[in-house]
Amino acid sequence: MRSHLCGLIDESLIDQTVTLCGWVDTVRLQSHVAFIDLRDHEGIVQIVVERESTEAFRQAAEIGYEFCLRVQGRVRRRVSANDKLRSGQVEVVAERIEVLNKAEGLPFALHENPNEETRLKYRYLDLRRADMQRKMRLRTRLVSALRHYLDGRGFQDIETPILTKATPEGARDYLVPSRVHPGEFFALPQSPQLFKQLLMVAGFDRYYQIARCFRDEDLRADRQPEFTQLDMEFAFVQEQDVQDAVEAMIRHVFLEVSEVDLGGPFPRMTYAEAMARYGSDKPDLRISLELVDIAEHVRDLEFKVFSGPANDPGGRVAALRVPGGAVFTRKQIDELGAHAAKFGARGLAWLRVDDRAAGRDGINSPVAKFLDDACLDKLLTATAAQSGDLLLFGAGDYKTVCDFLGALRVKVARDLGLVENAWKPLWVVDFPMFEYDGEAKRFVALHHPFTAPKIDDVADLQANAAISVSRGYDMVLNGNEIGGGSIRIHRPDMQSAVFELLGIGAEEAEAKFGFLLEALRFGAPPHGGIAFGIDRIAALMAGTESIRDVIAFPKTASAQDLMTDAPSAIVAGQLADLHIRTIEPEAE
Ligand code: AMO
Ligand code: AMP
Repeated sequence: MRSHLCGLIDESLIDQTVTLCGWVDTVRLQSHVAFIDLRDHEGIVQIVVERESTEAFRQAAEIGYEFCLRVQGRVRRRVSANDKLRSGQVEVVAERIEVLNKAEGLPFALHENPNEETRLKYRYLDLRRADMQRKMRLRTRLVSALRHYLDGRGFQDIETPILTKATPEGARDYLVPSRVHPGEFFALPQSPQLFKQLLMVAGFDRYYQIARCFRDEDLRADRQPEFTQLDMEFAFVQEQDVQDAVEAMIRHVFLEVSEVDLGGPFPRMTYAEAMARYGSDKPDLRISLELVDIAEHVRDLEFKVFSGPANDPGGRVAALRVPGGAVFTRKQIDELGAHAAKFGARGLAWLRVDDRAAGRDGINSPVAKFLDDACLDKLLTATAAQSGDLLLFGAGDYKTVCDFLGALRVKVARDLGLVENAWKPLWVVDFPMFEYDGEAKRFVALHHPFTAPKIDDVADLQANAAISVSRGYDMVLNGNEIGGGSIRIHRPDMQSAVFELLGIGAEEAEAKFGFLLEALRFGAPPHGGIAFGIDRIAALMAGTESIRDVIAFPKTASAQDLMTDAPSAIVAGQLADLHIRTIEPEAE
């Protein structure tokens, strides 16, 4: 239908006749001439319709925004060049215009930035926009670069089932009822974890897959109910082997796709250090602010908000110095408090340093009255506070304080422009093997139940479960967890012991994971791997906060597809076939 692409028309084609297809980006009618900016995925070229070309000129009057056209014409030099366009030195003088399809009034103009609901409802129009074209094409290049890299290095690309059995990755499962087995269900995979381990037992040695994963969990900007992993597994490896291999791969694709040099080797930081210094297991190292522990200085205060957690072995009292934070108004500080509350804070004590040299007279703080002079001085010294700074305090149980001060650290740095313009990757290692779930009164796996502990001895692990460290590792980039993996348990006795510590009894383990335990008895090799979040990497490369911007048809925060209106009710007969009756949710 076409001889060339709109965005690629340039001076080399002057005096040639071309046929182009595309959409009307703008149309301007004048008495003797009409101008149409015709757009395709490569860009825009200006079409000129002169009055002398009677038929085309008559047609131009009826052409509207986003009409789909085919235009035949001759390329000529433009009188006034447009340096912003690749085709800006030339224009195409239309000889024939064919309207391939009209466009009715669009729900939004593509040049505008409509709200996200509208964008998702008319996603095919949203995707027509140059910015979305750029983002989606970048994602394609990322996936292609990853494949190319791995295909050349002995990795087998193997598909694993979508209709499968639940693999616990910590979220709820999406279930699929079986018609032929009444009352039984498949689960959509939260990841291909068990299958890739079995592929190592099967002797494939190196595996990867660009795998769709499904998790029914609370959604955020960096989480979707279905998302894509680059899933990888290696046999006969230790942590360093996997880390070195995938670090080289990530460095390669960033260079190739985004011309970004991530440098290396990536620094390694333990989970404990990351939490202590940054209040996060995915610290954004572009931000230099750090948390300072102050428990030792507030232990003897009457002020129970501080002294309580300071004397509790499971507690934490920490301060965050915000350089220049005195510029925040009371209203803005209240907003910081509200932000902290989202991460579990029950209050946010703060202290503004107006004049560091003036001691107590130079500060402004609702909690100053609870701090004696000696304590105040120690806090100002410990945090290296200077005039013009704001100190934020967190007190409570260790994890909660980390969570909200860690979140505030990122927020104030963004608000005050303290985020360095750089790429800061790192490995976070030495995660605790288990986390204690106070509500369920049992351990839960911090990574997943197939992650090996550093302790190699079953009895030893059982005796030291609460303090045991795993062989898991996360790759973090600019505050985003872009990948997570581990060395796996490859011995059945250890796997059974870990299940037991997680409260999965022998019977349940047999029912849920019998196939894995059995496979581990048939000469399973030591193995390990990792999975990267493709959506998150693509979002980082594209410079967008939301992974929805790099997924063609994403779901909303309430896990709906506004375009197709899924999920939706189904006809009664379909449910009957599946032996299912629904229970109406009770009215509130
Ligand atoms: P994990 O659960 O850490 O590990 O997932 C690996 C990576 O996938 C991305 N990711 C997500 N991206 C978008 N939306 C989500 N809901 C979402 N959840 C996770 C993250 C994360 O780092 N089977 C293990 C991997 C292994 O041990 O090899 C796993 O799935 O970038
Ligand atoms: P209260 O005694 O609860 O009125 O709190 C006194 C001051 O301490 C207020 O400024 C609160 O915002 C602050 N505060 C309360 N709880 C915490 C907490 N867990 N961490 C930090 N500051 C807190």
